[in-house]
Amino acid sequence: MHLLKPFSFSKRFPETEVIGSAFAGNNDNLIPLSFGFPAPESLPVDKMTVATEAAMKTQGRQALAYSGGSGPKNIVNWIKERSKLREIIASEEKIMVTAGSSQAIDLITRTLTDPGDEIWVEAPTFFGALKTFRLAETKLVSFPIDEDGLRVDLVEQELITRVNKGLPLPKLMYVIPNYQNPGGVNLSLARKRRLAELAYEYNFFIIEDDAYVELSFDGTFSPAIYSFGPERVVYLSTFSKIIAPGLRLGWAIGLPQIIEKMKILKVDGLTSVYVQEVTKNLLKQMDMDEQISYLNSIYLPRKNAMVSAIKQYFGEEVSFHEPNGGFFLWLTFPTHIDTSEFLDAAMIAGVSYIAGKHFFLENEGFHHMRLCFTFCKEDIIHEAIKRLADTYYDHVNSIQVIEEVN
Ligand SMILES: Cc1ncc(COP(=O)(O)O)c(C=O)c1O
Repeated sequence: MHLLKPFSFSKRFPETEVIGSAFAGNNDNLIPLSFGFPAPESLPVDKMTVATEAAMKTQGRQALAYSGGSGPKNIVNWIKERSKLREIIASEEKIMVTAGSSQAIDLITRTLTDPGDEIWVEAPTFFGALKTFRLAETKLVSFPIDEDGLRVDLVEQELITRVNKGLPLPKLMYVIPNYQNPGGVNLSLARKRRLAELAYEYNFFIIEDDAYVELSFDGTFSPAIYSFGPERVVYLSTFSKIIAPGLRLGWAIGLPQIIEKMKILKVDGLTSVYVQEVTKNLLKQMDMDEQISYLNSIYLPRKNAMVSAIKQYFGEEVSFHEPNGGFFLWLTFPTHIDTSEFLDAAMIAGVSYIAGKHFFLENEGFHHMRLCFTFCKEDIIHEAIKRLADTYYDHVNSIQVIEEVN
């Protein structure tokens, strides 16, 4: 037997709070509205079975070798063609397939920043990106969003102030332009254009994280920020929200010299050539426009069900922007409410959500909450919102009792 001596972890780990699991707790009855999961029935199991068999029959050994068969090239071509819809014209050397867009966020961050460099983000923003930026030991500054997305005017003001005071400028600006996670809003065309101009003027890069762009209920979308600034934007997207997150396939589009550096930092080899081979075959059978209409036929009624249940059970107590696509509703409660205070009670009552503070840098956003409307069916969503409202009003009453006693 060895006597175990104490060990220490790398100093790299920032003090980030773990954001609990959607299914945590002992409640089998739990309705998860927390994480951004697609509708389980939308996952293309039958098509995937056919695609896997085809991949093995046509490219078997190559698909299982390190460098792969024709899959990776086909996927790049698919990305190239599909990107034209957002007015992105990109040759192959500008496209990199990554293990989900999460990996692309990590690679671009480490390619363009050193510890201590500034990354500017939206408030609120995707907590996965915040974690990546923190792990890269960058300094974060946030700017609010409104109904038209990021307040680009405030970004511009801060850039001017920085220059006037001789202070450092950001290296990166991270933006989720469509169906923002969690806000659900879209960055207006005028702001996209202005942000791209600022990136040239003040020499920073924009990470345009377009994970939700395809999920537009009315099928509309405006040109990508990339189309206004291809030398200063790295565009990211993913198959996670339109096919399946388990594929772990996403992509980055940017200047070839940036993509080359990202490839050096990508130490896990090529993104699964096997999965790319299977996905190539899947995409042959799948008309993407039909797939999007199919997803919308599931998601729009779920969003509507959530909106009407919130109106029914919360009335004027909460406000929210009604999104025209994406995965999330972002609720705003009265300012004295801290939504993390009744999360445990909600889990016991059988509903999960993500408390607002996780989408901000620090000590902010307590009176918000993110709900995902894509995972559960309409009647389940209705029940979940009822449970949430019961829990919330119990909490409000308990605060009042405490205040009265004091
Ligand atoms: C805005 C945003 N970017 C990126 C991701 C990560 O996607 P992927 O599964 O491609 O890593 C998500 C997933 O929730 C997201 O909401």
